[in-house]
Amino acid sequence: MNKISTQLPSIIAIDGPAASGKSTIGLRLANALGYLFFDTGVMYRAITWLALERGIDVRAEAAVSALAEEAQIDVAPASQPDGRACDVLVDGRDITWETRSRKVDANVSIVAAYHGVRKALSQQQRRIGQRGKIVMVGRDIGTVVLPDADLKIYLDATAEERARRRYDEIIARNGKADYDKILESVMERDRIDSTRDVAPLRAAEDAIVLDSDKLTADEVFEQVLVLVK
Ligand code: CDP
Repeated sequence: MNKISTQLPSIIAIDGPAASGKSTIGLRLANALGYLFFDTGVMYRAITWLALERGIDVRAEAAVSALAEEAQIDVAPASQPDGRACDVLVDGRDITWETRSRKVDANVSIVAAYHGVRKALSQQQRRIGQRGKIVMVGRDIGTVVLPDADLKIYLDATAEERARRRYDEIIARNGKADYDKILESVMERDRIDSTRDVAPLRAAEDAIVLDSDKLTADEVFEQVLVLVK
């Protein structure tokens, strides 16, 4: 290993509210460093999609938690150049875009608040994260999943700005989106994520908070690179 690489943080945690740009920045950072990029949100989305697909009531905590324990979720490098950061597979089926549906958006925070779901998924995340050379993105990575991370970043922005970014993203992908509905959904998810009992969304005490409201993705990335190097 050369001298420079040993000085880089090996475990990097990026947390923040919905659509704060964590995945975009996290993926770019991982690519720049040659690290693994792991977006933990896709796991909560996959369980939510699976519950809906099987007709399980997302309010049935025990049934949804059992699903999280038994489901085979795999996250693999993107197999198609269609804007995805990675492939999301459940029991071998590619559900990458299904996990981004409005229905999943509307239900994922309910599922992610369950203790049993969080226990099952955080264990898997911790096992992968502790191997190092990783950029892990989520809501509780710096606080709960990897509290000993070498670098913790908390990416923030106003709900309006985050909804605008999500709106642009959806328009670019399939041309149809309703800004007011997106804003409502983003705010509702933030409310549930930050008030839940288990691992609520918050910045770790030793996290560096970056307010990205007035910054472009390139500017945020530059600031993150300074923190890393
Ligand atoms: O991409 P976006 O920021 O909209 O959401 P996401 O990162 O895919 O996360 C979807 C949902 O999963 C969040 O609203 C949380 O309810 C939950 N989540 C969580 O509880 N803990 C994590 N480490 C990651 C996501």
